[in-house]
Parts: sequence; structure tokens; C-alpha cells
Amino acid sequence: MAFLSFWGQVLVGCFTASLARASNLSDLYPPLWEESPGQFSDFHVENNMYIIDAWVYHERMGMYKILLNQTARYFSKFGSENEQNILWGLCLQHGWQYSTGRLADPSRRTHCGYASGDHLCISVDSWWADVNYFLSALPFLAAVDSGILGVSSDQVTLLPPFKDQMKFCYDVSSCHSSFPEKMNKWTLFYQYLQSPSGSFDAMLKHLWAAHISSLENTGERFEDRFIYYSKSEAEFGKNWTVAVEYLAAALIPTTMVRVHESQKGLPPRILVETDVAPFISDFTYLQNMVLSALDILCSVDQLTGKDLKRMLYNINIMSNR
Ligand SMILES: *[C@@H]1O[C@H](CO)[C@@H](O)[C@H](O)[C@H]1NC(C)=O
Ligand SMILES: *[C@@H]1O[C@H](CO)[C@@H](O)[C@H](O)[C@H]1NC(C)=O
Ligand SMILES: *[C@@H]1O[C@H](CO)[C@@H](O)[C@H](O)[C@H]1NC(C)=O
Repeated sequence: MAFLSFWGQVLVGCFTASLARASNLSDLYPPLWEESPGQFSDFHVENNMYIIDAWVYHERMGMYKILLNQTARYFSKFGSENEQNILWGLCLQHGWQYSTGRLADPSRRTHCGYASGDHLCISVDSWWADVNYFLSALPFLAAVDSGILGVSSDQVTLLPPFKDQMKFCYDVSSCHSSFPEKMNKWTLFYQYLQSPSGSFDAMLKHLWAAHISSLENTGERFEDRFIYYSKSEAEFGKNWTVAVEYLAAALIPTTMVRVHESQKGLPPRILVETDVAPFISDFTYLQNMVLSALDILCSVDQLTGKDLKRMLYNINIMSNR
């Protein structure tokens, strides 16, 4: 931690600040949680095969819902109601993407993801949606493969988007062959979860290692999507990826209340060309502050290069904190 740059610490600070205790945790669930599949039999079943359309919001959310439900037993020793499950981070981020319009078709050639059209549709042209695929489908399929979801590896398949099919993978075996390192990191995480002596901190290290591995070269893979966004939004997307590496390095616990609170600091809508933090009038003080901190953090990051972050990340991940 001592190696974190000042602005990295400011940002991390924003993400550890107020931890108001919600009176009812179900108020913090992401949008359409109740309507999302909570068990495999809620998905389409054909010849004993579960077929999931990850390009429909509540189905992608359903993968998180099953994952959270089935991993709850590993976190019950740390708190009640599954609040301490560190997989909430990914799930709530996806909810934030949905509610801020980031999963909709940014080219506006279709009504995919808009209230006027199919609001549940997730657009393959959305940079956020494409990157999130690697943080939803991969962790889910690796969990299937590790046996903790109670179905066998050849029983689950995901439907492809209507274009760029080669950029994604759809089942356990094809994800292992296309993205072996990312899948292995998730597998290690689930193996660690199942070890009886597992500590919270070590679970967190494995989670962040898998998270960072999933992001590696992934944002760049979909950079062609940035033509559909304002320069501010495209930069925010890139800067957010950098910031996530700092959050990983600081081993921020991605539990439910904490992530819910910190997401209040993230932009509540897609940024337009004229948005300049800290002067965005329809954003809160905190949202303006976080955007400004991101800006400074990313400039510092560019100056110091990736080596510093990688170094402190490795120190944190490998040490016993
Ligand atoms: C929490 O909210 C849910 C849904 O709104 C409701 O069914 C439940 O009774 C509430 N629980 C408490 C303890 O208030
Ligand atoms: C998991 O799902 C089952 C069935 O839907 C439900 O009864 C149970 O309360 C859930 N567990 C948690 C921790 O959410
Ligand atoms: C992203 O970071 C760069 C510096 O690397 C900065 O110029 C830009 O304003 C930032 N944009 C946003 C939206 O945070």
C-alpha cells in the first residue's frame, strides 16, 4: 500500500469511505434481480443442455445470481445474508452498466438496450458489454467447470452475439482453449474457495488476480467500439480500467454494501463531449471528484508507466499482507 501513488490512494479512499449499513440488503440488489434466473432450470433447456443468452440483460445477470447463490456457503463464516460474498462486485458493476445506459447500442443504429425498444437487449457494439462478457461468462463457466454449480461442463452453452463471434467463447472447453490463462485464474479462485482453511484476504487476492487477468488485453480487443462514443466516455472507459488495476492492487473487498456505496461515485450516465469534471452540473460532488481523481491518477499512471502498478500489485498478491 505504501507504494500507491497519492492519487491512487485518493481514489481507493473514495471506494472505502462511508459504509452505511443498509437496513434491508434486498434494496441494494441490481436492477431486475428478482426477474433474473436464479437456477439453471430457469434458462432455456434443450436436450439436457442449458442455453443462456448472455446478450440479454437478465440472463447475463442470472449467471451472476446463480454464482452468488452457489458460492454463498463459502462466505457465510464472514457474515450473514451473503453480504460478504466478494462476487457482488462484478454483479453490481453490471447493474450499474445497465442502469447508466452503458449496455445499449452506442451507435444508435438499433433500439437495442433503449427504453423505446428492447430495453433488456445487450449490444455487441457496446464496449462496456463486450468487456463485461469476460467478467461474467468466463467466471461463470469456470465455476461450472470447477463443479460448484452442480451441472457438468458439457451441459452449458452460451449463445453468440450477431457479429464478431470469433472474439468470444461460449462453453467450458472453447473458453479454456481460447483464453487458457484467464480461465485458469478463475479456476484457481474456485479451488481456493473450496479449501477449508480459506481466509478472506487470500480469497480476495485470488479474485482480483482472476479479475485482472480477465481484463488483460480485453479493453483493447474492442477499441473499435470507441468510435461510437464521445471522447470523454471513451477516455473514461480506458481510465476506469486503469483505476480497477489500482483497486486490485489495494485489494479492495468487493462485498455488497461496500460496492453499492462506492458506485454512487461513478458517472450515472454516458459522458458526452461537453462533460468536464469537476464541473458537470447534473453530477454529484462525489461523482465529479471521482472523475477528477481518475483523470489525475491516469496522468500519473502514464508518467510512471505500468511497471510501478504491476510491481505493487505483485507485492500485494504474493505477500501475506
Ligand atoms: C426487505 O425488502 C423485501 C422486498 O422489498 C421485503 O420482501 C422484505 O420483507 C424486507 N425485509 C425486511 C426485514 O424489511
Ligand atoms: C439460493 O437459492 C435458493 C433457491 O432459489 C434460495 O432458497 C436460497 O435462499 C438462496 N440462497 C442465498 C444465500 O441466496
Ligand atoms: C482520462 O485520463 C486522461 C489522462 O491520462 C485525462 O486526460 C482524461 O481527461 C481522463 N478522462 C476522464 C473522463 O477521466
